[in-house]
Amino acid sequence: MPVLVVRVNGATHSIPYEPGPSLRDILDVTEYRVRSACHGIGACGLCRVCVIAGEAGEATQNERLHLLPALLSQGVRLACQIRPKQDLHVEILNPAPPSNWKSPPDATLLQGAHKRGAGDRWLPSGVRHPGGLAVDLGTTNLCLSLFDLARGKWLADRWGRNPQHRYGADVVTRLAAASGSPDAAQEMSRLVIAAIGEALLDIATREGFDLRRVACVTLVGNSAMLALLSGRNAELLLRPENWTRPVDCLPRDTSGWVAEWGIDSAAEVDVLAPLAGFVGSDLLAGLVATRFIEGASPALFIDFGTNSEIALWSGKELWVTAAAGGPAFESSGIGCGMPAEAGAVFRVEAQADGGLNYLIIGDDRARGVCGSGLVDLIARLIEVGRLTPVGRFVNGATGFAFSTGGTDLTLSKNDVDLMQRAKAAIGVGIRVLCSRAGVSVKELRRVCVAGAFGRYLDIASAQSIGLLPMVPPEKVELAGNTALAGCCDVMLSSLAAGRLDHLRSIARLLNLAQQPGFEELFMENLYLQPLRED
Ligand code: FES
Repeated sequence: MPVLVVRVNGATHSIPYEPGPSLRDILDVTEYRVRSACHGIGACGLCRVCVIAGEAGEATQNERLHLLPALLSQGVRLACQIRPKQDLHVEILNPAPPSNWKSPPDATLLQGAHKRGAGDRWLPSGVRHPGGLAVDLGTTNLCLSLFDLARGKWLADRWGRNPQHRYGADVVTRLAAASGSPDAAQEMSRLVIAAIGEALLDIATREGFDLRRVACVTLVGNSAMLALLSGRNAELLLRPENWTRPVDCLPRDTSGWVAEWGIDSAAEVDVLAPLAGFVGSDLLAGLVATRFIEGASPALFIDFGTNSEIALWSGKELWVTAAAGGPAFESSGIGCGMPAEAGAVFRVEAQADGGLNYLIIGDDRARGVCGSGLVDLIARLIEVGRLTPVGRFVNGATGFAFSTGGTDLTLSKNDVDLMQRAKAAIGVGIRVLCSRAGVSVKELRRVCVAGAFGRYLDIASAQSIGLLPMVPPEKVELAGNTALAGCCDVMLSSLAAGRLDHLRSIARLLNLAQQPGFEELFMENLYLQPLRED
C-alpha cells in the first residue's frame, strides 16, 4: 500500500492509503484535514498543499485558475485535484481548524450506503434539491450521512464522538445520571442536539452545502440514546420489566432542534422508535440494510457495541436480544484502548521467532489499541503461551507490556477481564438464541457482523476466543455501520420503511438474564476458547 507522508504544523505523519480518492478525501478521514469549502470540486482554492516529493500528476485547469504559475512551479497544488497513486510527500499549507468531525475511514462503514439509488419518498415542494440527513446515535459515536433526496445521491458523511461520554461510557451510567438529575438529563439531550448541529455546520462549511436545503432528518439509535435525546422515559429503561416492552422514547416537539440546526423550517424529523426497552431502532435498521430475513438462513446478526444487539433468523422466526457486555469492543474502559482511528493498533501478527508484529491504522505513531486489535492481541498471546484461556498471564505477570510505533503500551489483567465479560455476554446471546430457535451454532449459514468494531476484525482471531461462531470465514460478513446504512434506506425508500415495520411486527424478544442457566452459561463463556457448537 502506498504511503502518504504529511507535514503539518511542524510535525510529520505517515499515512498508508488505498489509491482512488483525492488527496483531500484521503486526509479527510485523518486528524490532518486541509481547509475546504467547495465539496472538493476545485472551486474554492482553499485546499493548498505543497508537493515535496513524489508524483502528483499534471496540474488541472482548476488549479491553474487558482494558483499562479510561480506557485505551481514551487509545487503548490490543490489537494482536491490530486489523486495520488504512489508514495507522496506533501506539506499542508492551509490546515483546517481542529474539529470533532471527520469523514468515516472507508465506504465499508456505510456498507455501500453511498451507492443507494433514487428513492421514492415524498419530496417537499418549495425546496430546490432537497437534502435528507440520516443519523445513527451510537453510545460512543454519532454518524451522519447527507443525501440528495430526489436523486438518492450521497453528498457527505461525518462521524464524531458522542459528547455524552462525560456522563459515562455505557448506557446504564448515563440513564442513571439522567434519572437522578433533571439538569443532567437536559444537558445530555442538549449535547447531542448541539453535536448534530456541529456536524451539519462542518458539512455546510467544507462541502459548500446550504443547510436550508435539508428537508428531512431520520434518526436511529439504541433505546437509551433515543430516550436521552428526546428527554423522555430514561428512568423506565433502567427497570428490567421494561426491557422487552416498547418504551416511548420519541420526542414530543422537534421544532427547537430544527431551528438550532438551521435546516429548512418545515423539515420533518423522524426518530425511528425502538423495538423495546433494550433493543433500539439501530438493530431494526441494520436488519433492513443487510436484508437479513431475505438471505440464507439460519442467520445470525451481531451489532457489537456497549450494548450489543443480536438477532437470529431461523428461516421462520426472528429472535432478538441484547447483551450488555460493556464498552470493551469500542475500547472504552480499556487501559490501552482507543477508538478504531489513526494511531490505533488494529491487527497483531505472530512472527516466526515468537515475537509479535503490530499494525497501526493510518499513521506510524501508535496511540493505543482498538477493539479488533484487542481481540487479535489476546488471541496471539494465547497462541504464544503468554496468556491462558482462563485469562491469566503466565508466570504471575500482571500484564503484557509492548512497544510499537514509538509508544509503550500495556495490556493489563483488567483489560483482559473486560474483554472476557463482553465476549461472554455475546456468547450467551448466541447460544440462547440458537437454542430457542432450534438451531445449532454449526448450522449457521450466514453471520453478519455490524458496527465499527467489525471493520478491522480478524475473523479467525475472533473465532479462536469464542467471540464469533466457528463457521467458514466466507459465511461471515463484516457489514460496517448497518444502522446508518439502514437509516439511509428507510429515509430514501418507502419499501425499506415497510421492511422495517415488518421486522418490528415479527421480532420475538428474549431477555438473556431471565433465561434458565444464564449464570452457568456466562461463566462457561468467559473462557477464551472457541464457542461450543451444540
Ligand atoms: S478547491 Fe475547494 S476543496 Fe479544493
